[in-house]
Order: sequence, then C-alpha cells, then structure tokens
Amino acid sequence: MRAVIAESYGAMPEVRDVPEPSPVGGDVKIEVQASSLNAYDAKLVGGFLDGEIEHQFPVVLGRDFAGIITEVGPGVSGFMPGEKVFGVVAKPRLGDGSFSEYVVVPEEIGLAPLPAGIDYRAAGVLGLAGVAALACVDAVAPGHGELVLISGATGGVGHYAVQLAAARGASVIATAQPGPQSDLMYELGAAHTVDRGGDLAAQVRRLAPAGVDAVVHLAGDPVQLADLVVPGGRFASSLGVGPEQLGGRDLSVTAIDAVPDRIVLDHLATEVAAGRLRPSIARTYLLDEVPQAFADFSNSGTVGKIAVAVD
Ligand SMILES: NC(=O)c1ccc[n+]([C@@H]2O[C@H](COP(=O)([O-])OP(=O)(O)OC[C@H]3O[C@@H](n4cnc5c(N)ncnc54)[C@H](OP(=O)(O)O)[C@@H]3O)[C@@H](O)[C@H]2O)c1
Repeated sequence: MRAVIAESYGAMPEVRDVPEPSPVGGDVKIEVQASSLNAYDAKLVGGFLDGEIEHQFPVVLGRDFAGIITEVGPGVSGFMPGEKVFGVVAKPRLGDGSFSEYVVVPEEIGLAPLPAGIDYRAAGVLGLAGVAALACVDAVAPGHGELVLISGATGGVGHYAVQLAAARGASVIATAQPGPQSDLMYELGAAHTVDRGGDLAAQVRRLAPAGVDAVVHLAGDPVQLADLVVPGGRFASSLGVGPEQLGGRDLSVTAIDAVPDRIVLDHLATEVAAGRLRPSIARTYLLDEVPQAFADFSNSGTVGKIAVAVD
C-alpha cells in the first residue's frame, strides 16, 4: 500500500510502498479515506519525539483517520467490516500511522463509529485536535460569562477550543493575527481577539484589567500567560506545562494528555453532527502531496486544520 513514512529521526517524509498491515487479536483494519496533520506529526518528523516514545522505523506518519472497516481481528466484539469509523492512532509505539491506504488500530482505544451527518473529511480532522481541545476546556471548566484566554486559538486544537469554551457561555479572548485568522475566531464564537504579534499582556489587560479567569495554553510563553490570570484562576496546557513550571502562583494548573477514548470521540462526533462544533479546514492535500503539506504546516498563518484526502 502507499503510505507516507519517515525513515529515521528527523528524516523528511516520503511517499513509499509498504506492506499492508493485518489485524491481530483485538485490532480492526480500516481503509483510510481522510486524515489530517497535527503538530504531533511535525514534532515526530522533526525528531523531537526521540526518547519520548519507541519508534519502529520506517514510521508510517499520521494520527487521525476516518474510513471504513475492511477486516477485524479475532476477539473484536464492538465493530464489524463495512462500518464507517474515525479516531486517532493511539499505540504504545510509533510505527503504524494513518497517512496510508490502510491502518490497523486496537478497538479499545482511539476508535468510534462515524455517525450520520459527518463526512469522512470532517471526521478526518477531528480526532487528536478535538480530543485535546475538549480536555483543555474541561480542565478549565469555564463558567457562563467568565473570561477565557486561548493562546494558539487559530490552530487545529485552538479552533475547536474556542468553540467549546464559547458554547459553555465563556467570553473567549483568542490570539490571532489580524485578517483571516481573526475573522475566523469571531465566526467560531470568540468575543475578542488579541494580535499575537503585538503586546499581548497590554491587549489582554485592556479587556480584563483584573485578569482573565482561565487560560488555555496551546502556544506562547506560559509564564507571561499565567501572569494574566486572576488569583485562584485556572490554567490548562497542551504543551506539558504543569504546576512546577508555574510554581508559587495561586492557580489550578493542568498539563493535558489527550486520551482518545470512545466516550470523548462519541461526544465530539455528536457535536459535529449536530452542527454545534465546526471543523475548519484551511486546505486539503492528497496522500502523495503530504510531504509538501508538512512543509506548509510550519508556515505561520494557517487557520484551523490541514486535511489529507486518501481516497
Ligand atoms: N498534550 C496533548 O495531548 C496534545 C494533543 C494535541 C496537541 N498538543 C500540542 O498542542 C499544540 C497545538 O497543537 P495544534 O495541532 O493545534 O498545532 P497547530 O495547528 O500548529 O496550531 C498552533 C497555533 O498556535 C499559533 N501560535 C504560534 N505561536 C504562537 C504564539 N506565540 N502565540 C499565540 N499563538 C501562537 C499558530 O498560529 P500561526 O499560524 O499564526 O503561527 C497556530 O495557529 C502543539 O504543541 C501540539 O503538539 C498536545
């Protein structure tokens, strides 16, 4: 099958023919229709996950997938061939990925049925970013009318987090560059945007002189952001920032680890199907174009997700 692989730590992604994977006990095999790029994929290709998780080279890249089950391994009880599914490849070591014609994943983690009302393209950009966004917003638990600053709001995780926080009645302050990024933030429910290229602290202080109630940290300087939160406020980071890095502050700090369990995936899919959560796709690349997509992903100014069409 065709797949996008990395041959070694830090190697450029390339399209290759690789052996088709087979499901063993508890696994399902999926014919991938759609996927998307995540910052995680860029970190893997950059060699930044060396030492953090075992790699089995050549690593097939890609975490998100949406597609149709073609085969199930012995012991699979919850899924059948022919079923449409989506999710996140969540295995203890990197090797199998979703920038490929087929992917094999365990049924117990990272897999959910695709409900009516979502197409493959939307589901393919939902998994990892949606799970991380929901975990961040749950962690800061915004109340009605509370001010929540989302730093990195324009990216894959951020554009979902803006919508999820606004849906809970929060008044969202989104970092964005003026223009299309800022426009999208308002469309998705942000109450305010702040220019991330300007004096962030001054802009936020003008909107919230006493400080914001919570910060969702997806990019930027965590210490600067933490200084903008009211005493007793909340801070959630997708970048691994925990209480020890922000020591001494009167804040509830959560380092997020996005776990794509079935309940979370079902919830996200229901929200999309009901029109309450909108995946925003900046651009779609074919599988053969994914190496170029990696190059473009690192360009500043993207809004929302970069999708991959595998069909
Ligand atoms: N812990 C977990 O389980 C987990 C799960 C998912 C993701 N993550 C992490 O969360 C982060 C975000 O992921 P993603 O997929 O959303 O990445 P992404 O799509 O690349 O989005 C990052 C966004 O941050 C913006 N940005 C960059 N520097 C900024 C700054 N100084 N201030 C404000 N915004 C800034 C970028 O805007 P421009 O385009 O303008 O540069 C971009 O829109 C990544 O580091 C990723 O690895 C962690």
